[in-house]
Amino acid sequence: MTHRIAIVGGTGPEGRGLATRFALAGHAVVLGSRDRERAAAAAADVMAVVTGAAPTDQPRGTVSGASNAEAVDAVGLDGLVVLTVPFEAHRATLESLAPALAGMIVVDAVVPVRFERGPRPVEVPEGSAAEQAAALLPGARVVAAFHNIAAEALLDPSRVLHEDVLVASDHAEATAVVSALVTEIASLRAVNAGPLRFARYLEGLTVLLIGINGRYKTRSGVRIEGLPEAGIVGGGGTA
Ligand SMILES: NC(=O)c1ccc[n+]([C@@H]2O[C@H](COP(=O)([O-])OP(=O)(O)OC[C@H]3O[C@@H](n4cnc5c(N)ncnc54)[C@H](OP(=O)(O)O)[C@@H]3O)[C@@H](O)[C@H]2O)c1
Repeated sequence: MTHRIAIVGGTGPEGRGLATRFALAGHAVVLGSRDRERAAAAAADVMAVVTGAAPTDQPRGTVSGASNAEAVDAVGLDGLVVLTVPFEAHRATLESLAPALAGMIVVDAVVPVRFERGPRPVEVPEGSAAEQAAALLPGARVVAAFHNIAAEALLDPSRVLHEDVLVASDHAEATAVVSALVTEIASLRAVNAGPLRFARYLEGLTVLLIGINGRYKTRSGVRIEGLPEAGIVGGGGTA
């Protein structure tokens, strides 16, 4: 199924990386920004990468740019919204978009992290960024996902991603939609990580991965071993 996907805070590496992979999978992506022109420039850059990627059987999608609010409006109620702003901007961004996000699936990839001689977790009163989103957006279906994949890996379309995306949500249908989206990206698997209260572990795991990346000079990800095939979605998507 082809989705319309708005990425709020989409001009950074994680937003552009996800946009690259979503467009390669055939989806229509709108990169959001505080600045329309910055969004348009980022969208043109991503589209050039998508167009230049090795051909597959999958028809390419599109990437355009807009303000964050316009991006959400453009995808409509049937679309998906992905959040990739820094945690410092999480609350204010969601408060400003809350009315428009009612009824939508909101995928939160934000990691509460700060850097002081290495990465450190930021304590969130609600338990996690994703639970903060759910508290701020009572009418939306919040799904925590994509925290553990490095932007650099997403940005390189030639890189096959033998990784898992852990998906946590209190909404079964939204979990299914996001899990299906995950599996369209380059060999990624979606693993149902349970209810949204477990999002704190998905977010915290990224703090650990950033530290590992620093020590090993790499871009690591996660792969859960020992799952029955029936418990996993995906693993064989297109690059
Ligand atoms: N980078 C990774 O490898 C990675 C991996 C997993 C998860 N994440 C998470 O994904 C999110 C984005 O990561 P990133 O590395 O792409 O971050 P980033 O480059 O620091 O920020 C992404 C975008 O957010 C917007 N933004 C920045 N400050 C803002 C503010 N005060 N208010 C509103 N918008 C603001 C900016 O877009 P405009 O200036 O155009 O508005 C910026 O391009 C973070 O929460 C991060 O923890 C990142």
